[in-house]
Amino acid sequence: MEKLKIAVIGCGTIANAAHIPAYAKRDDCELAWFCDIIGERAKTAAEAHGGKWTTDYKELLNRSDIDAVSVCTPNNVHAPISIGFLKAGKDVLCEKPAALNYAQALEMQKAKNETGRVLNIGVCNRFNTAVNIIEGLINSGSLGEIYHVYASFRSHRSIPGLGGAFTTKEIAGGGALIDWGVHFIDLVMYCCGDPEPKTVSGEAFCKLGKNIKGYAYKNMWAGPPLLDGVYDVEDSVSALVRTAGPVITIHGAWAQNIGVDEMLVDFMGDKGGIRLQYGAGFKIYSTTGEALATTEIDFNPDNQYEEEIDDFLRTSRAKGTVKSRADIDNAIITSKIIQAVYDSSDAKREIVF
Ligand SMILES: NC(=O)c1ccc[n+]([C@@H]2O[C@H](COP(=O)([O-])OP(=O)(O)OC[C@H]3O[C@@H](n4cnc5c(N)ncnc54)[C@H](O)[C@@H]3O)[C@@H](O)[C@H]2O)c1
Repeated sequence: MEKLKIAVIGCGTIANAAHIPAYAKRDDCELAWFCDIIGERAKTAAEAHGGKWTTDYKELLNRSDIDAVSVCTPNNVHAPISIGFLKAGKDVLCEKPAALNYAQALEMQKAKNETGRVLNIGVCNRFNTAVNIIEGLINSGSLGEIYHVYASFRSHRSIPGLGGAFTTKEIAGGGALIDWGVHFIDLVMYCCGDPEPKTVSGEAFCKLGKNIKGYAYKNMWAGPPLLDGVYDVEDSVSALVRTAGPVITIHGAWAQNIGVDEMLVDFMGDKGGIRLQYGAGFKIYSTTGEALATTEIDFNPDNQYEEEIDDFLRTSRAKGTVKSRADIDNAIITSKIIQAVYDSSDAKREIVF
């Protein structure tokens, strides 16, 4: 089998933690090119994996020694880079969120449709073992009708890189909702069969991080704070989403004065319910006769990022004849919901699709 030649655009945290090691482990692909505007990062990756490097992705668009591309850059350049490679005839796996906003995500979907190439989004929970067992349980009907899903991704103090790219709307598109919420909304939609959203009402709060100098924290991922930086995104969000399936309620926070960190999803069915601890396992709550039953689930977890890359290469080889569960056609529903939460918050009213 001929090896697929891969380019990785953006050689930062997620590229080095997930994409690059997953490609490097395989013998059916080759890490051919690395690109980062910080040349040292691309060079380091190329030296470690034997590929070439550049600081300008445009130099790579029309190269014949690239078949497929991982886009691991900040959110503001997901759309131009992904569309550029699709139009140049390459298949693309673009990190989540699909784009800075829903309009850009639609442009990306249009480019996929016009070119007939593969465009998957890094909705890695669709490749998580626990999530897939839950999806199977829900779709087999064993929980009955799922009428409500409650997602909580709330942290006491976890604003990333305060003042930097994550907290600048122009670069990130938003805060806790677009960064963390995208994973939670996507996994709920996946488990519930991607139901059509009907209405969205939400409120996004920018409260605790806006005084950058006065923000108290113990440690900061993607930090340290930039004291003269920008903080114009939400540090917490609440929303209610009605869909053709269940109602979904979302409560998210990078920072909230709550004293605990909570990362969970409750799937409420009329025969049984599931509480998923995000990134870990889950329990099933049901009844047996007149008694209450709790079922502990144990399983052998896969590496979701390796599964995601495996799926991307499989769909790339299939040349559009096989559709991934991470295809933008599925992932874009989350962009639509996130956009509606922000629009609802700005307009102070419900958004009806
Ligand atoms: N799936 C997940 O679990 C997960 C986890 C973390 C981050 N992400 C997503 O991955 C993306 C990157 O996040 P990160 O934490 O790795 O950020 P990062 O800042 O660590 O890495 C991004 C890299 O992209 C480079 N870059 C910026 N603009 C570029 C351009 N035009 N061309 C080439 N390189 C460019 C930066 O110099 C940086 O090295 C974000 O969209 C984020 O939402 C996903």
